[in-house]
Amino acid sequence: MGFCLPVCKILRRGKYFVLLFLSLSLLAWIATFSGETVKSIQLSSATTQSLIRADSLTDKFKSWTATPEDLNTPPPKHECPQESPLLKGAVKLSFESSLKLKDVETENKGVTEGECEPVDCKARQSVAILIPHRNRERHLLYLLHHLHPFLQRQQLHYAIYVIQQAGDVTFNRAKLLNVGYLEALKDFSWECFIFHDVDLVPENDHNLYVCDNQPKHLVVGRNVTGYKLRYKGYFGGVTAMTKNQFLQVNGFSNTYWGWGGEDDDLRIRVEIQKMKIVRPPADVARYTMVFHKRDSGNEINKDRMRLLGRTPQVWRKDGLNSCSYKTLSVERLPLYVNVTVDIGKPQS
Ligand code: BGC
Repeated sequence: MGFCLPVCKILRRGKYFVLLFLSLSLLAWIATFSGETVKSIQLSSATTQSLIRADSLTDKFKSWTATPEDLNTPPPKHECPQESPLLKGAVKLSFESSLKLKDVETENKGVTEGECEPVDCKARQSVAILIPHRNRERHLLYLLHHLHPFLQRQQLHYAIYVIQQAGDVTFNRAKLLNVGYLEALKDFSWECFIFHDVDLVPENDHNLYVCDNQPKHLVVGRNVTGYKLRYKGYFGGVTAMTKNQFLQVNGFSNTYWGWGGEDDDLRIRVEIQKMKIVRPPADVARYTMVFHKRDSGNEINKDRMRLLGRTPQVWRKDGLNSCSYKTLSVERLPLYVNVTVDIGKPQS
């Protein structure tokens, strides 16, 4: 017993120490656990905040770093009206001898490399105007002077291609037009083509330079022939065909050298395909022909009647699919694309 007394005293007191230690540990654990929770809640709300901030920063960053294209992208345009409000009807044509190419460029500031489209609406058709040409600078100038504003009043997306025959071998209008078609399609998928003589100027802008679901002949009347259709099947001067209509007839024949016959040949191709030529009303489809003497190098083709006789047999292999040529240059001038081409010479 003498030994037990002091030991038991110590043990009894130690019980309180153990109790005290356990309580303190419990308190410490509670404090630690609740601290973690608060921290994790704080962390997750902070994460959300920083994500939100990051999002708005990304937006701001995007707006600061937007490319000029993004900023300049205009809203999508509505299609132009069926009838352009800019049409004037019959206009008085002028052929001033003092007119210069620079004047025409200044008057047509909206034209770039021969191409133009409406500013306020989306054009209903994209049209390539093909003009075969050699040594007719004055005629070309008058035509450009009238044609650019005329096409703009019609609210078209268009481009003018002038196809120049290089050298002094006999002229071949039809082959140059085949070349124009093939070259213009390298620039853009034009849906409509206007095959245009350089010396014919349209008098009335209701004569629309768009394609129909049938090939269209636009020259019903010319001043020099009393504004009368030359003959029932006449298909010369200015014609409009879609990309596919022209492909379907295999384009023009390449074999008409000199003046005449190639337009009659195209009519035969159109007829073989059971297409029907349409024309605008006679009071609208009127042209002024700029006076000229017959050019040297474009003499009447005396062989044309014989060639016309064989069109039904040869059209499949004589045309776009056999048009061989060498492009010498493609100059992108302000008012037109100038394609200079070597188209070879007549086969003997
Ligand atoms: C020719 C055509 C020409 C027409 C009108 C015809 O004899 O074959 O090529 O367009 O006359 O001048």
